Amino acid sequence: MNIVKLRTNHLINPIGYALDASINLSWQVEDAYSKWQSAARIMVAMEPDFRKDSILFDTGKDEHINQLSYPLQLNWLPYTRYYWKVTVWGDEEEVAESEIAYFETAKRSEPWLASWITKPESLENHPMFIKTVHITKPIRRARAYVCGLGLYELYLNDEKIGNEFLMPGYHAYDLFMQYQTYDMTEQFTIGEHIIQAMVGDGWYKGRFVFEGGYENLYGDQQAFIYEMHLEYEDGSTVIVCTDNTWNCYNSPVVKSNIYDGEEFDSRLVLSSQELKSADLLPVCPIDIDYQKLSERYNPPIHIVEKLEPVQLIISEIGEKILDFGQILTGWVEFEAEVPSDHFITLEHSELMQDGCFYNDNLRTAKAQFMYIGDGTTKRIRPHFTFYGFRYVKVTGIDDIQLKHFKACVIMSDIEETGFIETSNAKVNKLFSNAKWGQKSNFLDIPTDCPQRDERMGWTGDVSVFASTSCFNMRTPAFYHHYLKNLRLEQQLIQGSIPFFVPKPKVAYHEGINPFLISDGAATWGDVATILPWTLFQHYGDVGALRVHYPIMKDWVNHVRALDIENGDHKLWDHGRHLGDWLALDHDSPSPIGATDMHYISSAYYYHSTLLLCKAANVLGYSEDERIYGELASLIKDAFVKKYFDEQGQLTILPTQTAYVLALHFKLFPEDKAQDVLHKLKEQISDNNGHLNTGFVGTPYLCLVLSEYGANDVAYKLLLNEEYPGWLYEVNLGATTIWERWNSLLPDGKISGTEMNSLNHYAYGSIADWMYQKMCGFTLEGDKGGFQEMIIRPLPDPSFSYVTGRLDTVAGTYQVEWRYMEQGHIQYSVVIPFNATATVFLPDGRSYRLTSGKHRI
Ligand code: BGC
Repeated sequence: MNIVKLRTNHLINPIGYALDASINLSWQVEDAYSKWQSAARIMVAMEPDFRKDSILFDTGKDEHINQLSYPLQLNWLPYTRYYWKVTVWGDEEEVAESEIAYFETAKRSEPWLASWITKPESLENHPMFIKTVHITKPIRRARAYVCGLGLYELYLNDEKIGNEFLMPGYHAYDLFMQYQTYDMTEQFTIGEHIIQAMVGDGWYKGRFVFEGGYENLYGDQQAFIYEMHLEYEDGSTVIVCTDNTWNCYNSPVVKSNIYDGEEFDSRLVLSSQELKSADLLPVCPIDIDYQKLSERYNPPIHIVEKLEPVQLIISEIGEKILDFGQILTGWVEFEAEVPSDHFITLEHSELMQDGCFYNDNLRTAKAQFMYIGDGTTKRIRPHFTFYGFRYVKVTGIDDIQLKHFKACVIMSDIEETGFIETSNAKVNKLFSNAKWGQKSNFLDIPTDCPQRDERMGWTGDVSVFASTSCFNMRTPAFYHHYLKNLRLEQQLIQGSIPFFVPKPKVAYHEGINPFLISDGAATWGDVATILPWTLFQHYGDVGALRVHYPIMKDWVNHVRALDIENGDHKLWDHGRHLGDWLALDHDSPSPIGATDMHYISSAYYYHSTLLLCKAANVLGYSEDERIYGELASLIKDAFVKKYFDEQGQLTILPTQTAYVLALHFKLFPEDKAQDVLHKLKEQISDNNGHLNTGFVGTPYLCLVLSEYGANDVAYKLLLNEEYPGWLYEVNLGATTIWERWNSLLPDGKISGTEMNSLNHYAYGSIADWMYQKMCGFTLEGDKGGFQEMIIRPLPDPSFSYVTGRLDTVAGTYQVEWRYMEQGHIQYSVVIPFNATATVFLPDGRSYRLTSGKHRI
């Protein structure tokens, strides 16, 4: 028996993360011959040897400890590493002890001794801040608490510290500023050390926000703060802080921002040796509120993969274009000897048109990297920007050698957890594209797209992709960071929810309250209930649900207040919404589909109220459960009364999405499910067997078809290769999911440039259906965390096999189905240790299975 993946707040050995509420400990058990955990024991200590006098907490052998989430509440000290381990007893007299895990606090509420510094005005480029320290005795422990505004990279003696990029990441800087903690014990040997930090503009002050953008959104000067606590072997301590003894000089990054890219002048790179005689300027103090500094929430941004170019394209007009074969988010790293004063430019794009480089759909984002050589060979990459691209046009290098170039895929480093393979290669590609959609848009916050002048945390996109994203990857820490931002912004607007989080408070610039601008629309705002509940379903973390509950409740109360203000119809039948965004069910150029927008908002009002009620039930808030349960049933009554006539027909313009929502949220007159399903099928066949749904209808379309008995129609929609449909994109060479069903026309021409990204994850939500219905990993049951899984695969003879694997917090499940001779289907199922699954087969048989491999 092996105990693995010991996580603290869903992160492995986190250092310097915020501990807002109780800490959640979790782990997984592998290679056990026991089926069940009969008991477990958790110990927490101040020292890794767990010697008696260092033990802070010991549950003792306890039968009730749950591996999914153990809430730990102690009085956390600042600057302290806590060690923990678990012992698990199996039912077969098996026992195992885990390795030692840890988490470490940062400053907690200790005051900052360091001061914020900035550059003098005379410095034109992004600044490099610098300080030399002399270490005279052996060091026992070195920790640096660091933040840079907008973005920073920290160096010690010419080496970058840590493997994170784009720190401190993207958050609502007006409300909190996350600092990082670096363990630098190893680096600080006896001798002289040069600490340097290069600071760029990033989200904090670089051009950002669609429609031209704004500069200086959160501040108009770069700033840096560094506080390092050194402990010598002899017990003495010293603190190194940013203050007026630091200096600065022009860094090689001449300028940068998220949309336009970076200009890097390598002639300005100074080695430690050159720095000794360089002209350094004293830094200036800058007044930034220390209270805003907060321990971090965001998982690290890492390079998670490097791709080699698959070909060098020389276009008709002589452009040299690297093709990486995959749309991704990140940058290109290359090695080159560039003559002094010589320019190299890289331009990034998602697609080619007429055999040439094309990037008009990036709108105003220049997405460039410009490099000026210094006559030496260097490994070159940008620092304070990122690009969404597949193709890179290179200017300034005559002899391009593919082997010198690598595309670095950057994302918030979270684990992949869901894997599906089928007998259909195109469907496999579609699944891969949906994953890449997530990989390339989970960069500190969930972005709508990573390439054009937008890249913002649109809430509606998260609402519709939440479940898929949790199947694909272990998201709780990533989303906790997003929800932290969302909560802080929600509190400024009386429970409403911005269209995007963080919300750049653009209107501050125009002197008006930025929150007066139409926030809080259906589906987008409903991320407030959908995301916390989806997280609970996937990860079973009750503590996290409790932390997020006020977001859910305030949102529902906000919509309820609007309802009361507008006549108390128990409907959300007013206000402007984005409707079924980008649906194809009408002829007008408006992106808002044909489905009545108040039908959609009312349906979501019901859905959110019901999710709140379910959350209240899990948390034992019985009064809330009653109140919101009653409200939900009143909304349902009002909804059915308003939107269905006595014959059970819709009273609004019938659309696929209208029927999909009715079925998914169970908002139809009693006993009318099959009628509604019938109507939905009719809509699909009237549309030549094609979907025409947008952001709202698409995620649930195949789910409801399979659930209510039209599984074959769901498979047909999936396998449809013509426009509109998922495989249409695959046939046109997509490597991610497009924003629009017709982002490209059948001849490969782009359909427009206004709002047309080839990398939007919303329609990748078909993967949710693939997990839940194809493989059968359902979200049924209100327990959360998959320790009691209901597996309900719905095979279809259009595939000869499907295999799915899901690494849940409760362990790894696998489901495979395979058509054998004479139409028999063989099922193989793997259930993890300490879990049960009830498997329901389409022919009505069901099995209750425990840990192990099973074949049916
Ligand atoms: C974004 C979307 C977003 C929408 C809503 C677009 O520009 O890219 O994904 O949800 O606007 O208005």
